[in-house]
Amino acid sequence: AQTSGQTTFQTKGNSGAEKYANFNWDELGFDLVPTDYMYVMKCCEEENFSHGNLVPYGNIEMSPSAGILNYGQGLFEGLKAYRKEDGCDVLLFRPEQNAQRMKRGAERLCMPSPSVEQFVEAVKQTVLANKHWVPPPGKGSLYIRPLLFGSGPHLGVGPAPEYTFLIYVVPVGNYHKGLLNLVVEDKFHRATPGGTGGIKAVTNYSPVYKVVTQAKAKGFSDVLFLDALTGKNIEEVSACNIFIVKGNVISTPATHGTILPGITRKSIIEIALSFGYQVEERVIPVEDLLEADELFCTGTAVVVTPVTSVTCHNKRVEYKIGVEMVSQKIHVMLTGIQTGRIEDKMGWTVEV
Ligand code: COI
Repeated sequence: AQTSGQTTFQTKGNSGAEKYANFNWDELGFDLVPTDYMYVMKCCEEENFSHGNLVPYGNIEMSPSAGILNYGQGLFEGLKAYRKEDGCDVLLFRPEQNAQRMKRGAERLCMPSPSVEQFVEAVKQTVLANKHWVPPPGKGSLYIRPLLFGSGPHLGVGPAPEYTFLIYVVPVGNYHKGLLNLVVEDKFHRATPGGTGGIKAVTNYSPVYKVVTQAKAKGFSDVLFLDALTGKNIEEVSACNIFIVKGNVISTPATHGTILPGITRKSIIEIALSFGYQVEERVIPVEDLLEADELFCTGTAVVVTPVTSVTCHNKRVEYKIGVEMVSQKIHVMLTGIQTGRIEDKMGWTVEV
């Protein structure tokens, strides 16, 4: 048995140890791998979260009339844990930022939320309980998926009577396989002003399935969405932020409620400024894609992924790819900090 915070949990027996030893870390993608433990904390409407537990990873029981199932009252977060080069220590990247974003989202969706301290402590406990699942250095990371949702039963449209905060973890490798070829979508939109595009609502994601599935059937890797008001400006890819590079200027769409304020996005802006680039958060007309030297996507899952081409109204623009790219320099610095290879002068990493 090991102790983590207040909770004692059993590490699995020999068969468990064999499971990790025989696991093929070289073939990690972004696919579900059931791990050992998850964290669960519940509270009632108008109460505060107070005490959670680690339990074996598995199905959860909910009423068919739970708020999340009927009205989509739910949020998720995504962050990662990395094994340091020494193979022993594990680092989290800016977990308090995820906690704060969850709080903002919870406020928008009328849900109670764990405090920043509760969130970070719960993440640490969950990672510690699943430490065997943090991939070896260079093989990937442990993706941490906190959820907050209305789990209590009700029928009328309104906040649920009970909430669940749950964290599970999955070892992951690269999100995208191969080159990233985007297509610009001009009919469907990801978010609208006044909507929920600026928070990590679970309901922001399935509406992109249709267009992304159609785009993939045509050979594209993902979809770049335009703003819903004018249809003239780029906003976000289905599950990540986007940046364009022109000379010494790095630009990304400004976050005014329709774009997810990504933690990787924010970190990249800070890294780019420290490198001496000019960074602009602004409205980016789709035409700017034609002029750009480079394009790259950012997010917890995609990290920093260069875009090789964008197709807009059947016109295809290609971008250079290579080690001299701005996105590559940023990728090296970001992942260096995340994995402890580069000194964390920003104070972003947290040891588990
Ligand atoms: C993340 O990068 O954490 C995301 O939210 C992407 C996820 C939808 C796969």
